[in-house]
Amino acid sequence: MRILIASSEAVPFAKTGGLADVATGLAKALAAEGHDVCLVIPCHRKFISEDQRGEVIGELNMDMRNFDLRTYICRTTLENSNVEVLLIDQQSFFDRKGLYGSGNSDYPDNAERFILFSRAVIEVAKTVSRPHVIHANDWQTGILPAMVHHERTQGRLAGTGSVLTIHNMAFHGQFPAWQMELTGLPWEYFNWQQLEYYGHLNLLKGGIAVADIVTTVSPTYAREICRPEYGYGLDPLLLKRGDSLVGILNGVDTEVWNPVTDKHLTHHFCADTFETGKPLCKASLQEELGLDVRRDALLFGMVSRLTDQKGLDLISAKADEILRADVQLAFLGTGDPHYENALRDLQARYPGRVSATIGFDEGLAHRIEAGSDAYLMPSRFEPCGLNQQYSLIYGAMPLVHSVGGLEDSVIDASEENIESGIATGIKFTSYHPDAFLEAVWRMVGLYVHRRNVWNQIARTGMSQDLSWNHSAQRYVEVYCRAIDAARS
Ligand code: ADP
Ligand code: GLC
Repeated sequence: MRILIASSEAVPFAKTGGLADVATGLAKALAAEGHDVCLVIPCHRKFISEDQRGEVIGELNMDMRNFDLRTYICRTTLENSNVEVLLIDQQSFFDRKGLYGSGNSDYPDNAERFILFSRAVIEVAKTVSRPHVIHANDWQTGILPAMVHHERTQGRLAGTGSVLTIHNMAFHGQFPAWQMELTGLPWEYFNWQQLEYYGHLNLLKGGIAVADIVTTVSPTYAREICRPEYGYGLDPLLLKRGDSLVGILNGVDTEVWNPVTDKHLTHHFCADTFETGKPLCKASLQEELGLDVRRDALLFGMVSRLTDQKGLDLISAKADEILRADVQLAFLGTGDPHYENALRDLQARYPGRVSATIGFDEGLAHRIEAGSDAYLMPSRFEPCGLNQQYSLIYGAMPLVHSVGGLEDSVIDASEENIESGIATGIKFTSYHPDAFLEAVWRMVGLYVHRRNVWNQIARTGMSQDLSWNHSAQRYVEVYCRAIDAARS
C-alpha cells in the first residue's frame, strides 16, 4: 500500500510533543511491513540542518489570495528505514524559532502556514507520491480530508482514502471565516456539518466530519471524546461518526526508547538486570541534576509540556506534603510560565531533593526515564501519552490518573493484580489533590516496605511488548477501510 502521512512535526527533525514520536514511529513500522510510506512535514529550518533536509526535488507555486509563495520540496529518508521524507520548504512560514508560536502565544498566521502546508501535501500527493491513502494528524492538517474529498469530486486523487488521527481534542485550529479562501475549496464546504463552527473556520471539525475514517490514539479516549467533558464541543459530531471513529493505542519506537541500547545512557539494563542497572543510572542522574546521590530516596521523574493538561496543579498542591517522605523529584519541561516558576520555586526550597530543568532536552528525557524509580503522569486528560509507556519500558513505575491512554496502558497495583502478576503501576480515578496524594502514598508504601513486590511490578512493565507491531497492523486495517469508502 502507498501511504502518505502528513504531520506538522516528526523526530528527528522537529518536535514539541508526542505527535513527532508517533509520526515517525508509525511510518517506520509500516515501512518495515513492506508498505511504501511517505512522511510529509514542514521544513522547520531552525530545527532541521541543511544535511537533514536532503535534496530539492521540485518547486510548488502556491497562489494563496494572489500571494505567490515559492515553495520547495526536499527529499530525504529516515535513518535505518525505507521511509521517504518530503519536507515542504517555505521560508517565510517555517523558518521560525517555534513550531506553532513563541512563548505562550500562537503565530498570528498559523492558518496561512498550515493551510499552505496542507495544500502542498495535496500537490505532492498528485505529482510525486500518488498514495492510496492520505493520513492527516491533528488540526494542522485537519483540512486535508476536505481537500482530498474535493479533489475526488473533480476526478483527481480518485479512490484515495483519507484518515484523520486526533492526538488532542483541546486544539481545534479555529480561525476567522474569511480564511476559508486560503483553502482553495468551494464555500459549500463552509457549513455547520463540515468546516463551519459558530461562524468560524474550524480545521479539526472539518477533518472529523469529512475524513473517510477518524482515529484517535487510545480506545478509552475514543469513548471519552464522544462526551461533553472531553469533546470540546465536537462530541456530537464524533458520536455521529459511530464505528468510523477508531481508537488505536500509540506504540513505542523501540529503536529509540530502549534501556538496553539507548545512546543517551552510560549504563544499560533490561528486565533481568534492572536491579543492578537502574541504581547506576539513578546515581548518574542524581549527580547530573545536583540531587543528593542516595539510593534509598524514591526518585520520581516527570518529562512534560508544562500545561494544565498534565496535572501540574495536583503536583503543585501536594508537593510539600509529598516531600515530607524520603522522596526526590526530577522535572524536565517547558510551557506555562506559572508552572515553570512553581517548579523553580520548589527546586529553590528543596535543594538536593528537587530538580527542575526548564527547557527541552531529548537526552535528559531518556536519562530521567532510566534513572527514576517512578514516573509522575497525573494528567487531567491524556489522549494516549507516551511517557508512561517509556517509563514502563525503563522500569520507572508510572503513577497515572486513569483517563485516556493512561487507563489503557497501566494496570493498577491492586492486591489482586499484584497476586496475579499483571500489575504495572499505580492509578487514581478521581482528579483531586487528595486522590493523587493517596496514590503517591501507595507508591511510597510499596517502595519502602515491599521492595520485592516493587521489583516484580517494574519487571512486568519492562517485559511487555509496547512496540508499534500490533498498532501498525490496526492502522493498515483502517487504511483499507478508508480506501474502500473512497472507492464506493
Ligand atoms: P504530549 O504529546 O501531550 O506532550 P506525550 O507523552 O504523548 O505527551 O509525548 C511527549 C513527548 O515529548 C515525549 O517523547 C517526551 O519525552 C517529550 N518531551 C516533552 N517535554 C520534553 C522536554 N522538555 N524535553 C524533552 N522531551 C520532552
Ligand atoms: C498528544 C497527546 C498525547 C499523545 C500524543 C501523540 O500530544 O496529548 O496524549 O500521546 O499526542 O499521539
